[in-house]
Amino acid sequence: MPSRSPNQSRFSESETEAYYDAEDALYRSFWDAEGSLHWGVFENDPQSGQDGSIRESFLTACSRLNEIMLENSGIGSDSHVLDLGCGNGNTSLWLSRATGARVTGIDLSGVRIDNANESLSGAPDLAGKVAFHKASATDLPFEDGAFTHVWSQATIYHVPDKVTMLSEAYRVLKPGGFMVFDDLTKPKPDISDEARTYVYDRLLFDTDFSFHSYMAALREAGFKVLDARDLSTHLAHSYTCLSHMAASGDDPDRRERFAALSDAYLKMVNAVHNEELGWAQYRCVK
Ligand SMILES: C[S@@+](CC[C@H](N)C(=O)[O-])C[C@H]1O[C@@H](n2cnc3c(N)ncnc32)[C@H](O)[C@@H]1O
Repeated sequence: MPSRSPNQSRFSESETEAYYDAEDALYRSFWDAEGSLHWGVFENDPQSGQDGSIRESFLTACSRLNEIMLENSGIGSDSHVLDLGCGNGNTSLWLSRATGARVTGIDLSGVRIDNANESLSGAPDLAGKVAFHKASATDLPFEDGAFTHVWSQATIYHVPDKVTMLSEAYRVLKPGGFMVFDDLTKPKPDISDEARTYVYDRLLFDTDFSFHSYMAALREAGFKVLDARDLSTHLAHSYTCLSHMAASGDDPDRRERFAALSDAYLKMVNAVHNEELGWAQYRCVK
């Protein structure tokens, strides 16, 4: 059995690529029909009922993550932002419209890059402002210092070699450039079989980074860490919502097909409560 070096996951980039090439329709059917695929930051416990429907609270919380990442980022019309793991490109389009910035999105999945380019072709207002390329975060096809900002949502946990990915992000930033991203963390190294099966293996990831050791890795890559936010409670809220959303609908066949996914999402919530899984946002400069 091959041994794992620190910061290397057991999953390969080609497995991740095949997964994301195949599963777009499934996620659009309950997560976000528009194609976004990240978690949300909630103002209230989504089960308190104060926010209307679960779906609405979840999608509002996902938009709130975008707003929070944009706050104090300095992204404006003079910026050129790299959206690392842009998926279907929704956030790249939103970011360019919201700020006037140029945005370049890259993703490992060719299917998602095709979807992003299709959305872009329906957005003439963004012609020349936004571009998408199929590429890996560990081998960026850009010159040193090409970007003022690196932005990434719900992606880096998938990257098997996070150290190389961080050094690539550092390389393509201009001196003084800003990186803002969220990522999953592993609060403790020893996790239960349930968390291994339903959280780490199911999501095709592993990480050696806890909330705190992530900051050390960023410093090791050359970054100055400005701040970090532990968002783990919001990850649990997100999966509580997603469990409801996956199990909802009138079609009994669909409900049966999604029952296992809905259960797995509740195991994600347990893993957060058992401190076997975390979620954090970091802001740093080169
Ligand atoms: C959960 S989705 C998030 C997509 C998007 N950021 C969003 O918020 O909707 C994770 C994305 O990361 C991409 N990804 C995973 N590993 C990658 C890598 N090594 N390089 C580039 N993209 C990667 C996947 O293809 C997928 O589109």
